[in-house]
Amino acid sequence: MDFKFEIAKLISSAADIDVEEVISAIEIPPNSDMGDYAYPCFKLAKVFRKAPPMIAGELVEKIEKKDFIKEIKTVGAYINFFTEKSVYVKEVLESVLTKEADYGKSTEGNGKTIVIDYSSPNIAKPFHVGHLRSTVIGNAIYKIYECLGYNCEGVNHLGDWGTQFGKLIVAYKKWGSKEAVEKDGIQELMKIYVKFHDEAEKEPSLDDEARLWFVKMQDGDEEALTLWKWFYDISIKEFERVYEMLGVKFDAYTGESFYNDKMDVVVEELKEKNLLKESEGAMIVDLEEDKMPPCLIIRKDGGTLYATRDITAALYRKKTYNFEKCIYLTALDQNLHFAQWFKVIEKMGYEWSKDLVHVPFGLVSLDTGKLSTRHGNVVLMEELLNQAINETTKIIEEKNPDLPNKEEVAKQVGIGAVIFNDLYNNRIKDVVFSWSRMLNFDGETGPYVQYTHARACSLINKVCGSEEIDKNVDFSLLNDEASVEVCKLIEMYPAKIKDAAAKFEPSIVTRHLVDIAQAFNKFYHDNPIMSSEDEVKKARIALVYAVKTILASGLKLLGINAPKQM
Ligand code: ARG
Repeated sequence: MDFKFEIAKLISSAADIDVEEVISAIEIPPNSDMGDYAYPCFKLAKVFRKAPPMIAGELVEKIEKKDFIKEIKTVGAYINFFTEKSVYVKEVLESVLTKEADYGKSTEGNGKTIVIDYSSPNIAKPFHVGHLRSTVIGNAIYKIYECLGYNCEGVNHLGDWGTQFGKLIVAYKKWGSKEAVEKDGIQELMKIYVKFHDEAEKEPSLDDEARLWFVKMQDGDEEALTLWKWFYDISIKEFERVYEMLGVKFDAYTGESFYNDKMDVVVEELKEKNLLKESEGAMIVDLEEDKMPPCLIIRKDGGTLYATRDITAALYRKKTYNFEKCIYLTALDQNLHFAQWFKVIEKMGYEWSKDLVHVPFGLVSLDTGKLSTRHGNVVLMEELLNQAINETTKIIEEKNPDLPNKEEVAKQVGIGAVIFNDLYNNRIKDVVFSWSRMLNFDGETGPYVQYTHARACSLINKVCGSEEIDKNVDFSLLNDEASVEVCKLIEMYPAKIKDAAAKFEPSIVTRHLVDIAQAFNKFYHDNPIMSSEDEVKKARIALVYAVKTILASGLKLLGINAPKQM
């Protein structure tokens, strides 16, 4: 039973307005003495030509009082609904107990495809913490949409094409060695790439050489492509180690190079549509009337650009996936880039340009210099994740040295803490890394939610002797405030998932999980389980089971594991 919907139906028939309209107006009051649902009558003033409080007063008389409603009261312009707790608790918990891990899932996205462009690191460069955010947020958005029934296509738009690879080839030919690259991988590539920049400052002709090599790559030169492919393979191998640790997968690794042979047609189309203009030897799309700098399509030397490949990729994706939305996760410093080329697609006459969405996020900063600075100020993902695991191992050794499967749990908790920390605040905010805060088992953290889940698992085991519970319980025994509060949060969970999807904001789910965990811990504190009388114990364990189910599926939505023991 969807209480909000049921209440909306009652209001709708009493006031003779559309149910959908009522639903979107219904609010959840901030505290329970204002009821469980509230309907503000301000907007009705125009329709009924009366003061809102008066409308509320008249309406309340007309609303049918079904037995799931205990009381309907008006406060000013608000109509407050108090649900009958025993009906409410029973409905909510029964729904979780029958649907189990499917609770919160929906079919609203069936038949629709969402393309998610995330992670997308640049090859031959270390996978640094900046890419962590794109990876983690993108992965969560993927899972959230999937939960709503959408078909998701996760694309890793690797930065694997562009003049920088011309530079790398020159650098390798001048200062590199096969042995060193084989031994140190990306580190070595990075080293010679940095050297290139130092040298090119003194010797600008190196840049020309690099441009030539990139043009060779574009033209399919064998030597150039063999070297490039080698750098590519080395990079992917390193990236995959990080993805494996994070538990992240992609449906396609179609990076920028994939579009090399697909750009000509698009450039032709731009020409035909009279959008291309020459400017200082380069080809651009003028965006002056849109108050943006021009979008560079072809360089003076014939090289294509990041934007050229993004435009080509969008056309390809529309054709291949016929997406409902194609979303891009990058730091907000790329805002202009996306605004520019989205505009180009619009100017090309594609009405679906409105379905391209840039989902930006803030930067990552570190609270101390403690993270390794061996590589200048790039913090390597792999090192960071390993450090998270090490720090967690220390905590486990201290708190629960006899825990079976310690290593696996340390991995799940350490990496979970990093992911959770990243998804806790609005994505646009900067993320601060602080081990002590991220790993605080009592804070608003991943370990806290995981620990609450593990605690629920162990309670169930203790009481039932297995992971199964007796689902045939008297829910009216759960009539205390703390139990009802937990049920309220559980009931809100499906709506939170939808909200998170609509706003591309996984933090809505993350925070709700913390709220549930906190409410649960209060419930547990107020309601002894082991010592309670049999029927009460059974009912309380059913609530524990519902919480356990939701914490596990919620963590999964965020890409975090939920160990049963911690
Ligand atoms: N490789 C880019 C970077 O590291 C991110 C690519 C994002 N996706 C895209 N289609 N532009 O900044």
